[in-house]
Amino acid sequence: MKVRKAVILAAGMGTRMLPASKVISKEMLPVVDTPAIQVVVEEAVASGIEEVIIVTSPGKTLVLDQFEKAMELEHHLEARGKGDILSMLRKSNHPVKITPAEQAEPLGLGHAVLQSRAAVGAEPFAVMLPDDIFDCPRACLRQLLDAAESNDAPVVALLKVARSEISKYGIVDAKAAGERLFELRGMVEKPAPEKAPSDFAIMGRYVLTPEIFDLLAQGKPGAGGEIQLTDALMALAQRRRIFGYEFEGIRYDLGDRVGFISAQVGFGLKRPELAERLRAYLRSVICS
Ligand code: G1P
Repeated sequence: MKVRKAVILAAGMGTRMLPASKVISKEMLPVVDTPAIQVVVEEAVASGIEEVIIVTSPGKTLVLDQFEKAMELEHHLEARGKGDILSMLRKSNHPVKITPAEQAEPLGLGHAVLQSRAAVGAEPFAVMLPDDIFDCPRACLRQLLDAAESNDAPVVALLKVARSEISKYGIVDAKAAGERLFELRGMVEKPAPEKAPSDFAIMGRYVLTPEIFDLLAQGKPGAGGEIQLTDALMALAQRRRIFGYEFEGIRYDLGDRVGFISAQVGFGLKRPELAERLRAYLRSVICS
């Protein structure tokens, strides 16, 4: 299979990050200096995706504006000879084809995916949740796409989580099927730890086939009274083989306060111009 399109779900209310997400959407909160939505679009581009469909809630257009040309700002920087800042700014000008879609009501993650149906059409596609961002030797989505292409099957990202974290995630029943690869026999959304089939959690990157749309359209509300993507995936697993891939790299949860702060530190330390001062600061607070 060849995957050209990725759907980024940015319609959530962001309640986990209030009050920061009261006025601006949580996807606009920065990782060091780059809004999360841009970090995720850059991962899609690095993975070879040609079109990104961004699902937002009504009126939530800031995430789309991030990829528009900022004319006045560009003129201002040009006139002042600030070429380095200008070229950094230009990286966010239409880095890929961006297509908006809208989720009119917050009826769940699965329902949000369904809103991309017209834009995706009848081809395999990726889904990316911008709460999850990754620092990987090879883009996380690219790792999944390679597994999906070589097995000609849907693939989800997997990460082992602590028992105390299990009830925050979709948890899979997985059977080893190759290096880092697992065949999924079942999955359940946010189970109690004693009912979980394993400690392997689904992270927010998926490669799906278009059959998922019918399953989502038929889906009944699941955990939390919402139409869950995990339930549709479970139905898909009954029709065809689907896989999980234990990606190589680090994942940060931007919807969690410690995850958010960890991402600032982790990505900050990767920046040569920031690393030394940041490391000195961290040493000083830890040793005090
Ligand atoms: C969603 C999915 C869940 C997955 C998680 C990954 O949950 O429903 O299966 O494990 O993303 O971050 P949410 O974080 O929207 O509650």
